[in-house]
Formats: sequence, structure tokens, C-alpha cells
Amino acid sequence: MKYQIRKKLIIFGAALFLFRCSSDQKKNSMIDTKNTTINKKVDSLLSKMTIEEKVGQMNQYNGFWDVTGPVPEEGNAKNKYEHLRKGWVGSMLNVRGTENVKAVQRIAVEETRLGIPLIIGFDVIHGYKTLSPIPLAEAASWDLKAIEKSSRVAAIEASASGINWTFAPMVDISRDVRWGRVMEGAGEDPYLGSKVAKARVKGFQGDDLSKNNTIAACAKHFAAYGFSEAGKEYNTVDIGTSTLHNMVLPPFKAAVDAGVKTLMNSFNELNGVPVTASKYLQRDILKDKWNFDGFVISDWASINEIIIWGHAENKKEAAKLAATAGSDMDMEGYVYVKELANLVKEGTIKEEIVDDAVRRILKVKFELGLFDDPYRYCDATNEKENIGTKEHHDAVLDVAKKSIVLLKNENNILPLKKKGQKIALIGPLADDKNSPLGSWRLGSDDNTAISLLEGMQNYKENTLVFEKGVDLFNGDVAFTQQVHVNTTDRSKISKAVAAAKNADVVIMTLGEHGFQSGEGRSRTEIDLPGLQQELLEAVYKVNKNIVLVLHNGRPLAIEWADENIPAIVEAWQLGSQSGNAIAEVLYGDYNPSGKLPMTFPRNIGQTPIYYNYKSTGRPNKEPHVFWSHYIDSENTPLYPFGHGLSYSSFEYTNFTVHGGNSFSVNDTVKVSVDLKNTGAIDGKEVVQLYIRDLVGSVTRPVRELKGFELVPLKAGESKTITFNLSKNELGFFNNDGDFIVEPGKFQVFIGGSSITKLEKSFELIKK
Ligand code: BGC
Repeated sequence: MKYQIRKKLIIFGAALFLFRCSSDQKKNSMIDTKNTTINKKVDSLLSKMTIEEKVGQMNQYNGFWDVTGPVPEEGNAKNKYEHLRKGWVGSMLNVRGTENVKAVQRIAVEETRLGIPLIIGFDVIHGYKTLSPIPLAEAASWDLKAIEKSSRVAAIEASASGINWTFAPMVDISRDVRWGRVMEGAGEDPYLGSKVAKARVKGFQGDDLSKNNTIAACAKHFAAYGFSEAGKEYNTVDIGTSTLHNMVLPPFKAAVDAGVKTLMNSFNELNGVPVTASKYLQRDILKDKWNFDGFVISDWASINEIIIWGHAENKKEAAKLAATAGSDMDMEGYVYVKELANLVKEGTIKEEIVDDAVRRILKVKFELGLFDDPYRYCDATNEKENIGTKEHHDAVLDVAKKSIVLLKNENNILPLKKKGQKIALIGPLADDKNSPLGSWRLGSDDNTAISLLEGMQNYKENTLVFEKGVDLFNGDVAFTQQVHVNTTDRSKISKAVAAAKNADVVIMTLGEHGFQSGEGRSRTEIDLPGLQQELLEAVYKVNKNIVLVLHNGRPLAIEWADENIPAIVEAWQLGSQSGNAIAEVLYGDYNPSGKLPMTFPRNIGQTPIYYNYKSTGRPNKEPHVFWSHYIDSENTPLYPFGHGLSYSSFEYTNFTVHGGNSFSVNDTVKVSVDLKNTGAIDGKEVVQLYIRDLVGSVTRPVRELKGFELVPLKAGESKTITFNLSKNELGFFNNDGDFIVEPGKFQVFIGGSSITKLEKSFELIKK
């Protein structure tokens, strides 16, 4: 009987497999046919275009607001409209709202000779109007479905507002907490970064780009922008090939494999070549080796910046270098529109280079369905009904809760009791409805986030008092401006101390404002800005029962707080629903499950600090000073990559490498572990798997993340978690950029953070 059932199951399984294969084949052949049809249409259109019209497709203009960089002299509205009418503009950014988009689209479609529609770009970085957590925070959820959903919501809202192309995801790996843009990426690790990149591309682009609620994604910034020297914005980058291939490029490759339609290059140079002019990156790797068939856009006027870097003498040379290198579209640089047609006419650049770029751009426009209906994203009813909906707020609340990381919780001070408590909420960010929106919120409205004060007010059976304690800034804050941190006005501290004295628990809400990280916002100090540390210590003198809620767009150095404050909650900038999400975690209505995607240093001097470092030749503590260390700080971080606590506790047992401990380089190594929720409440744990390849022809990091699973477990429940390590996980890129797997000894580690001690080993042998 059993046998028959099993047999039936096998037959059913085989039938399902064949069905899947044949439906996959069908899907693939449909994609092929679609591609061929589109390619034919592209070729036919291309054959009708003059060189000026072709170059026009490679030209993108900014709309008339929300500028993120200097505008060239030519950038006035009159010129732009004139160029638009001549068919010299292929794309616009920062035009939004169905009416505005319709207006520029109408000129492109109805007034130009060939009527080629514009592709409309916008920085939809973590939401459009309804904002999700900043991307670094979302990565802390390690919840790929929630991340995909959040990008989906962003795409639905942006597309309803006329936009069909987002300049996201940013997939730059960065190890430098000084760099302001770490808030925009997925942190320091290429494995997690690749998974997040894929989820975000899928969320934006969906299964069918031609739907009116999916938008083209753009993996940026290609490449190595996150390795800006000293974390200084727009700085030079000088990294070796091993770091380039093993750390920087994998998330871009993952985005390309996920079908991302565009990439953006970047402001940095790499080993002496501004990347906008890098043929090696854009043609040799991206377009040739990876077969990327979408297009590359420059960053804001980065073609111009080739001149300022000192790599081209003038615009003409910059245009030649960038186009030849494979930079297909010029963002607000006025270089291509001015120079490229002449360069072709005089024979300096082959027309094929322009044709290649234009083909790529037109193909994406066809895929978006813009030629079928250029106004498909301009439906005013859709705009009214699909932006800021309850469903979207629920989705961003969900991912916001999941993004919170419980860094410390001594004596179970958290979760808070729901009744009979006097709670003092103190800090400049506690009632701030603006800061949780982060610095990329161009489609949203200022001061629309739920503040922590509002979130806490939902719990009515406790007494809540609020005191600011200190102001973070003197004067206003804005997207494009420097902030002026308050370092002198202490007048509110005494009131906060008085409130703390009478409280059972103090919630201190401190950290960075949303406009203290992001583009153009590098810092040389990463402690609590302004007078916040002073405030914290003053409150601590009168009440030690403190929960510190951190808001920040980068890891901060909070060594004093870690030593003295019993509970610390990392709440980043969590978007529109911030305060509700934090309150739910503080009160235990959501059991925290986030894990850090980036190492927290003890002090700024340890930067860059990251978990996947190399051994060095002298890693071990010695009685003398001649080993790899600092004489005034520990080597270890304050909180390691992957760290995060829960109100549950988890036990790992039966860690097993299956099938012995010796495998061929072509084998898949199966490892498993049993995970038990030993706590009193249901919770989730991110089980992380790391490897170490002990000897490599290129030295390998001491640990590398190669698998993870977010596991929900009821109180007392156990589950076996299995990972399969194949070539993809066990190999690496050598210094020629080739992926190889080398025989030799490996260690494998499993646990709830990157410093887990659960370890096994195995060997790969040549067979
Ligand atoms: C940023 C890009 C962004 C572009 C357009 C630049 O300054 O580096 O990431 O997409 O502006 O706003």
C-alpha cells in the first residue's frame, strides 16, 4: 500500500517535473519570440533615425525640480523644451505626477518626427509616497519576501504617478561607516547583498515589465563607489582585483541574472579611471562577459566629471571615452547631445557604438510597452486610487517591524509591561515625523512619518511623558543642505532629567536625523551627534532603567551606551510607519528578528571593520606588540555582522556535515542543524552559514556568508535546517576574474551571527 502511494507520488512528481520543464520551455520560447519581435521593431526604427535623433535617445534631462547635483549652464527650461521638440531627448528624470509626465510625453510622442516615447526615471529608493525603511534597514530583516514586497509597493505607487524607471536598487557593498550612502545599500556582505539585489529587482520589475504597475529597475553604482577612500563622498577608489571581483561585483551580477533592465555607473574612479569611462567594467565585464542586454546610464553629469577628474581634456574627449566605454545614456550632462553626432560624422567614433546604445535604450522602451501606449503610466484614476493606500501602509509597517534589530536586552527590560508603568520618552527624535523618512523621499511629503511618540501613544494603559532633552539642530533641515548640529543649547536637559527621575522606564530616542546620512553626507565622527551623549549620561545618573532606541542611517559607535544601558534597539530610519513599528517591538507585539547587515565598530578608528576580513600573517595575541592590533582599542567590533537578539532564545544542536568529510570539488556538500525555540514565545531566527576556505591561491576571508534562512518557530518548536554547498558557494574569483573552486580544507560555521562558534570541517579533493 505504502509502496503504491510512494509510486504514485513519484509518478505525480515526475509528471509535475515534466510539466514544469515544458512550461518553463514554453515560457522561454515565448520570451525568445518576444525578444525577436522587439529586436526587429528596434532595428526597423533605428534604420529610420538620423544621427541626431539617435544621440537624442542617449540624452536624459532633469525635470525642473529636485536637483541632486550641479546643473550645467545649458540646463535651462527653454533649451530643454527645444531639444525635446527636436527629438533630442530620450528620457527625463524628476518629472512626476500623471499630468506632468503626460505633458512632456506628449511633446515627445506628438511633436517629434518619429514620436519615440520618453522613459521617465526617478529615485524611488525605498518607496515613493508610502515609504519603507531605508534599504540598509530592510536588509537587516533578511526577509527577502518582505523586501520584494516593499519594492513592489514602491513600483505600484511610482508607476501610478507616471514613472516607469527607478534608479534603484543601489547594490554597492560598503565597509566604511563614514560613507553617508551606506544607508542606501544592503551593507557589507556580497552574499546577502546579492540576494537582496535580486529580491528588489523582482519587486520593481515583476514578471511582466509591460504591465502598467511594473517599472524598470537600475542596479547602481557600477562600480565600487562604496569603497570611496576614507568614506569621503565622491572620492577616489583604489581596490585590488580580488576585492573587485569577490566583494563589489557579485550583487551587480545577481541583479543582471535577475533581469535588471539598466545599470547606472558612478562618480568614482577605479584604479585611475573614472568608471564612467571604464571600458573594462561596462563593456568587457558587463556587456561581454555577463551578456547584459539592457543599457547603462551615467550618474548625474558624471560624463562631465571625467574632465574634472583629469582623464579627458574637454567635453568632446569625455563623450568619446564614455560612449566607447559603454555608457549609453548621459544624465543631465549635455555632453552627448553636444558632441556625439559630430564625433560620428568626423569618424572619431564608429556609428555602431551609438547604434548599440540606442538599440539597448529602445529595447527597454518597447519592453515597458511605451510604444503600444506611451501614456500607460498616466492614468489619473490609478494615481488617485493606488498611492498611499491602507494596503501599502500595512506592507511598509510589516517590513519596518522586521527591520528592527535588538542589539542588547539585559534583565529582560524589554518587552515593556503594558499596564501600570510610568514611561518617560526622551530625545530629539522621539516626536520627529520627518527624520524616519530618511534622506531619499522625493516622492513623499515631509513630516508624514508616524513618530515614536505617536506609536507609543497607542498603548494607553501606561502613563507616558515626553521631553525632547536637546534639539539636534539649529535651524531647518533639507534634502540639499548641510545641517547645523546644536552643540551649545542645553536648556532642555534639566526638564528631561526631571521626567526620567519619576519614570519606571526611560525610552531614549537618539541618533542621526534622516538628513545626516545619504548622498553627500559623509561623517568623520560616528558617535551620537551634538549633545545627545551628554543628555544620555545626565538621564542615566538619575535612572538606569533605560531603553535606548537608535535612529541612524549607518552603524554608530556607541561603546559607552553598550557598557551602561541595559537595552538597545536599532530602529534605523523606518519610513512612514516608523513609530508604530518600534512601539510594537518595544511592547512585544512583534518579537524582534532583525540581524545586522553591517558591523558596528567600537570607535571610528577601527573603520573599515567587517566580518569577512583576512587572517593577516600575525592574527594572534602576543605578549609583545608585534601582532596585528591597535594599542588603544580591541580588534573586535562592538556588534558583529549578523548579530541580533529576540525575546525568544534559540538552541542549535546536531550540526552535521552529511556524507563524511571528504568530497570531490564537483560535489554538493549537505549540512544541517537542528534549531529549537527554547523561549516562552513564538519567534524567528535567521540561521546563518559561513565557510572558511583555509588555503587559497588568493587568500580567503576568515568567514564568508554562504547561506541563510529566516526560520519562524513557535515556542518549544524545533526544525531541521539544511544547506547545500555547491561550487557556487565554495569557489571564488581569482585575480584574473575567473571563478574557480580549489581542493583543500574548509571550515563551516552555523549560528545566529557571524561570530558563532559552532564549527565543522571537510575537505574538497580533486577526483
Ligand atoms: C546619485 C544617483 C541618483 C541621481 C539622480 C545622483 O547624484 O548619485 O544615485 O540616481 O543623482 O537623482
